[in-house]
Amino acid sequence: MPATTSQAGGLRDHVVLITGGRRVGGDLAIRLAQRGATVAMTYFTSRAAIEQTIATVEAQGVPGLAVAADLTRSEQAQDAVRQVIDRFGRLDALVNMASLYRRTPLATLSARDFEEMIAANLAAPYHAAVAAARWMLEQPGRDGIKGRIVNLGDWASERPYKDYLPYLIAKGGLTTMTLALARELAPHILVAMIQPAMIDPPAGLTPDELETVLAQTPLRRIGSPGDVNRLILYLLEGTNFVTGACFRVDGGRFLGEAP
Ligand SMILES: NC(=O)c1ccc[n+]([C@@H]2O[C@H](COP(=O)([O-])OP(=O)(O)OC[C@H]3O[C@@H](n4cnc5c(N)ncnc54)[C@H](OP(=O)(O)O)[C@@H]3O)[C@@H](O)[C@H]2O)c1
Repeated sequence: MPATTSQAGGLRDHVVLITGGRRVGGDLAIRLAQRGATVAMTYFTSRAAIEQTIATVEAQGVPGLAVAADLTRSEQAQDAVRQVIDRFGRLDALVNMASLYRRTPLATLSARDFEEMIAANLAAPYHAAVAAARWMLEQPGRDGIKGRIVNLGDWASERPYKDYLPYLIAKGGLTTMTLALARELAPHILVAMIQPAMIDPPAGLTPDELETVLAQTPLRRIGSPGDVNRLILYLLEGTNFVTGACFRVDGGRFLGEAP
């Protein structure tokens, strides 16, 4: 179900930073605005798309901010977080969406492929999380919680398929980062991870490839941004007792093919 209906909500005066997201992140921004949250989003190359999303956020009557950042660069990640603090005075939650996904078969894999995948899928969320956590720790808490971090991983990092070696290694590192940060930042900051399977078919997916994915998914469908984002909303406003947890949102794909 897409994010369409307006609901005033429990995140009023909460400031949430989403890193990127032409697809899942854009839907999350609207849902957060409908819950009353102030929403900041970073963009790397998709300036127009993110500015459009922020305009939609502001049309809900809440403040928004679009920030340019190459999050693989630590100083740009720090600067993006600082811009949010300068504008809104605090940061309640960081949602690490930014990622890079492409096929990298072993036969043609280059060292550069590895470096780019680790940079976008592991270093970028790391830089954003460290920068955000340092600010969060300095701010007054709400019900004892100073901040929340949600990382977007991938179900396949724990049941790898072929031809995506550096991407899957980076997402696996993100799982360890989630656990280590949860330990490091407790009891002040809650850290969790969501591991989706296919959410909306990516551009270029053939009908045969889609059929194969469906056959490998016990629930016999692919996910929607709402399947992921309803869980993110729960982690941001529905609990103060979840940290270091990783949630697969995969239609059961991790379990393997259904009979
Ligand atoms: N969609 C799925 O089927 C699926 C499946 C499994 C896991 N996931 C995970 O769920 C999350 C959201 O997925 P999605 O499909 O919504 O992602 P997406 O639309 O591909 O968005 C990824 C974002 O990452 C940003 N990005 C890439 N490199 C960056 C950099 N160096 N600095 C800053 N930002 C950078 C891009 O920004 P610009 O566009 O501005 O360049 C883009 O908006 C991702 O972490 C993904 O790995 C998604």
